[in-house]
Amino acid sequence: MTSVASEPTRRTFETIGVIGLGTMGAGIAEVFARNGFAVVGIELTDEAVERGCGHLTHSTGRAVSRGKMSEADQAEILGRISFATDLSALAEADFVVEAVVESLEVKKDLFRRLDDIVKPETILATNTSSLPVTEIATANTRPGRVVGVHFFNPAPVQNLVEIVRTVVTEPAVLADVEGLVGTLGKNPVICGDKAGFIANTLLFGYLNHAASMFESKYATREDIDAAMRFGCGYPMGPLALLDLIGLDTAYEILDTMYKQGRDRLHAPAPVLRQMVSAGLLGRKSGRGFYTYE
Ligand code: CAA
Repeated sequence: MTSVASEPTRRTFETIGVIGLGTMGAGIAEVFARNGFAVVGIELTDEAVERGCGHLTHSTGRAVSRGKMSEADQAEILGRISFATDLSALAEADFVVEAVVESLEVKKDLFRRLDDIVKPETILATNTSSLPVTEIATANTRPGRVVGVHFFNPAPVQNLVEIVRTVVTEPAVLADVEGLVGTLGKNPVICGDKAGFIANTLLFGYLNHAASMFESKYATREDIDAAMRFGCGYPMGPLALLDLIGLDTAYEILDTMYKQGRDRLHAPAPVLRQMVSAGLLGRKSGRGFYTYE
């Protein structure tokens, strides 16, 4: 008699919680809703919910105006997303991802509070770019069911999600999250818990170098960006990309990577700090290396 090894049964996910509806959180909520999931979006205040709704309407509206989505589909996608200002709305969620401010204390506190709210089998995830996933996971009583899921900006467009495992992540959880990311049409890659993960570790040394080159007046912003677009085929130049990411976010990511590795490549270029102090945050504030309408 031959025995047939049975495939492990993958979990199914229906309701997804997204905490924080800024640029990344709203993008992540949109990705799940576009793929048929019921999404519960959480923000701190009604005003922040309103802003999150605005991101979602704007982003899906762009697809409608480009003829990539019908108004009926837009209404259906937006109709799958409900909003709340209280974490208790996540009681039925199967998977919760947070995309709140990049503060270890804020994230740990959030994971502590989620303990009493979500179902025991719910998988929790953080979209952190560079904070230690292990520390966030261990703030919770179920660290084996916590992973990093790192989306890229703009989330509806970029097809990569880094899945970050810690030393205590359960293998079945990792497989379930990999399956979930696949259902979103994104490519999952798996890596360990080290600041920057795969993509940002490789990307941010380059972005930082471009900011230093601009700072030393070696070349104009236009020529730095044109060199990488037309010479290397990048979809946008490094300074335009820093504006898209947000200079405050970029500064925090570099600073965290620098503090963890003491690698000079990631010591933030002084101009980044100065621009952040002056409120020049990139696209989101209307001005960074470039000016936006
Ligand atoms: N939200 C939703 N959709 C968007 C969007 C946004 N903010 N920006 C662009 N799009 C969509 C457009 O609607 C368009 O969709 P269709 O093809 O379906 O019509 C498509 O993206 C292309 O947009 P555009 O034609 O307007 O412009 P483009 O061709 O110049 O592309 C871009 C814009 C997608 C941003 C492209 O330049 C690009 O991929 N840039 C690199 C972005 C990148 O490297 N991201 C990673 C940053 S690092 C990170 O995110 C990690 C971190 O931790 C900070």
